[in-house]
Amino acid sequence: MLSISNPPLHLSTRKISMGKPHAIMVPFPMQGHIIPLMELAQCLAKHGIKITFVNTEINHDRVQAFSGNEALDDRIRLVSVPDGLESSERYIPEKFMETVYEIMPRNIEELIQEINASNEDKITCVIYDQCLGRIQEVAEKLGVGSAAFCAAAAALLVLGFNIPRLIEDGIIDNEGSPLNNNNIFQLNPTMPIISPSDFVWNRSKISAIRKLVFNIMKQNNKFMKSANWLICNSVHNLEPGAFTVATQITPIGPLLSTNRPQNLPDHIQEPDPDCLKWLDQQPPCSVIYIAFGSTTIFNKNQFQELAMGIEQSNRPFLWVVRPDSDKDFPDGYLDRVTTHGRIVGWAPQQRVLSHSSIACFISHCGWNSTLESVSNGVPMLCWPYFADQFINRSYICDTWKIGLTIDEDENGVVKFDEIKEKIDRLFEEDVFKERALCLKEMISSSASEGGDSYKNLSNFISWIRG
Ligand code: UDX
Repeated sequence: MLSISNPPLHLSTRKISMGKPHAIMVPFPMQGHIIPLMELAQCLAKHGIKITFVNTEINHDRVQAFSGNEALDDRIRLVSVPDGLESSERYIPEKFMETVYEIMPRNIEELIQEINASNEDKITCVIYDQCLGRIQEVAEKLGVGSAAFCAAAAALLVLGFNIPRLIEDGIIDNEGSPLNNNNIFQLNPTMPIISPSDFVWNRSKISAIRKLVFNIMKQNNKFMKSANWLICNSVHNLEPGAFTVATQITPIGPLLSTNRPQNLPDHIQEPDPDCLKWLDQQPPCSVIYIAFGSTTIFNKNQFQELAMGIEQSNRPFLWVVRPDSDKDFPDGYLDRVTTHGRIVGWAPQQRVLSHSSIACFISHCGWNSTLESVSNGVPMLCWPYFADQFINRSYICDTWKIGLTIDEDENGVVKFDEIKEKIDRLFEEDVFKERALCLKEMISSSASEGGDSYKNLSNFISWIRG
């Protein structure tokens, strides 16, 4: 592990051509952002690019423990930097976000200076999560090339770029709040229809977070303009409207471990070792897979309604209930479902979704989960929780029409009979599966040799190689 010291070094050229190409990659410190950037790191390393992949200490330990060195090309070096937070502060969102935006860029600057002052290959470019826009300032200050990486849909970026227009048109006020809740909004005829109350920054219950996310998006717009590349884990044909109105965004997705020839790990948590064997025993297209990403939390009442809805559907299911969630199952539940249900703390999701026994996916619509589902032709039941997940739901249900939305009742609760009814519809109406399979075809051709994403990624790699 590199230590962080600070020998100042001033570099004047934009891209340094001495030695081998060497990229420093910095994900936003959340699992859903780390996974796709790790995937990109593996692609780049396969093309001879040396990678220094930087996580905060807590995530670095996870990546090392569960991806393990055998998961990584020997050109990838994992490095950690402190996030400057006490462990209790990591759960205070304002503290977490503010500190990440101040401390991480500073640490990255020091790390680049340290590497460049040493005998190893100089850093030639920085690839950073676009949420960490201030790292762009570091790249400019140190004279290295830069690429901002978006782990979410391109539509999220387009929404951010349009903040000034949304204010000017009276859709939102200066702090991002909707001026009329009944509006629905579409930035372009092929882009998702959403309500301003579902804009990314408005989907937190805490007003300080809403403000923070809104301001960070505005600030990051400015930084992204200066980056040499703005790359996105998406596919042109999935979001043609977004890529037409924002030609500066380059799609290079889907970045999935299943696209790699090697059977390398794709997780940073310990997955249940037996669930794939359990899936092998289920009939084709019979199992409901239920998972809500790395942060979604349900209250007791909602958790029990979900449990009952799954039970009432009376079909085989694989349900991820993370170790950090409350497991308040209804009385006798685990005994009643034992013959046809499997509940695990974490699943090897990409491999689960590519298993022939999976019929549908009940999901929070995180962008990784969405891409993994569409890449495998799996219809979805959408239950978004936070941030960009509402835009993703709109793509799934309104644009691609490969899923259904789960609706809350008038008290804001999703009842068990709503869950059962929507599950039944996904099984009974073949049209969802048919469309999902078409989308799967389209996506896989984009990532294959000659496809759009393949060409974009090749161009990006050529740029890094200089
Ligand atoms: C977050 C946001 O929700 C998402 O919208 C944003 O675009 C990225 O960051 P997260 O909530 O964790 O991510 O959801 P998602 O994007 O779906 O990522 C979850 C990842 O964890 C997926 O790659 C999924 O395969 C993996 N996972 C999840 C597992 O490997 N096993 C599990 O049991 C559950």
